Amino acid sequence: MTIPSVINGAAGRTEAKMVYRSKLEGLKNPANISKTGPKKLPTLLLYDERGLQLFEEITYLEEYYLTNAEINVLQTSSDSIAEAIPSGSMVVELGSGNLRKVSILLHALEAARKDVDYYALDLSSKELKRTLEQVPKFKHVRCHGLLGTYEDGLDWLKLSQNRSRPKCVMSLGSSIGNFNRYEADSVGITHKFVLNGLLHANSILARADAIKPSIPHSEISAIRTSTSKLANESRSSKV
Ligand SMILES: C[S@@+](CC[C@H](N)C(=O)[O-])C[C@H]1O[C@@H](n2cnc3c(N)ncnc32)[C@H](O)[C@@H]1O
Repeated sequence: MTIPSVINGAAGRTEAKMVYRSKLEGLKNPANISKTGPKKLPTLLLYDERGLQLFEEITYLEEYYLTNAEINVLQTSSDSIAEAIPSGSMVVELGSGNLRKVSILLHALEAARKDVDYYALDLSSKELKRTLEQVPKFKHVRCHGLLGTYEDGLDWLKLSQNRSRPKCVMSLGSSIGNFNRYEADSVGITHKFVLNGLLHANSILARADAIKPSIPHSEISAIRTSTSKLANESRSSKV
């Protein structure tokens, strides 16, 4: 079996530094540490390796209707979407997750004999390799992993070697739901997913001194206190 290649979309930075720095930047955003307004945490924190696996479980829940709705759309329309993508294109998926849905389009591109490069962009090279290994080896469609944040990926597309090629940039899935929290999470996986994000925030903050960030220690301690409090509250609430 050939091991899928994963390109580092954040040139010159190691995976650990690239993802870690982006998460820490998100944590120090003034909106996140405001003492008066509502506190927010960057969604990036939800997706470490464990978070990606929990999200994959969420996509199989009946309440998470988006995946099946999108699969229906793709099954109905993937041939016409593939028709509209010219040969020679770069097809980039922002936040590729488990590749279950995009595979429908990749099969349609292969059937239409479109010679394209598909780039799955996400935050963990281990997960990119694992998910890409499950995609069949196509003759026309070449699959690659692209490690980085959305911003890294969009910067990577502007590099001279990529600039002249036609591009299709996709975002599948959604972070927006219409259910209330009880309707949305009857078996508690989303609760575990969010709690994992808070624990992940704390592990990022615990390592913060080691990379000499531009945030004063007192601010890091304040954010850490907030995320620990939220994690404790989240642990003791049922949903
Ligand atoms: C809601 S999931 C959607 C996954 C998949 N596209 C689907 O539809 O099932 C969001 C995905 O985007 C990735 N992600 C979230 N924020 C990101 C960011 N700022 N940069 C890169 N990837 C990100 C996560 O790791 C996760 O795989």
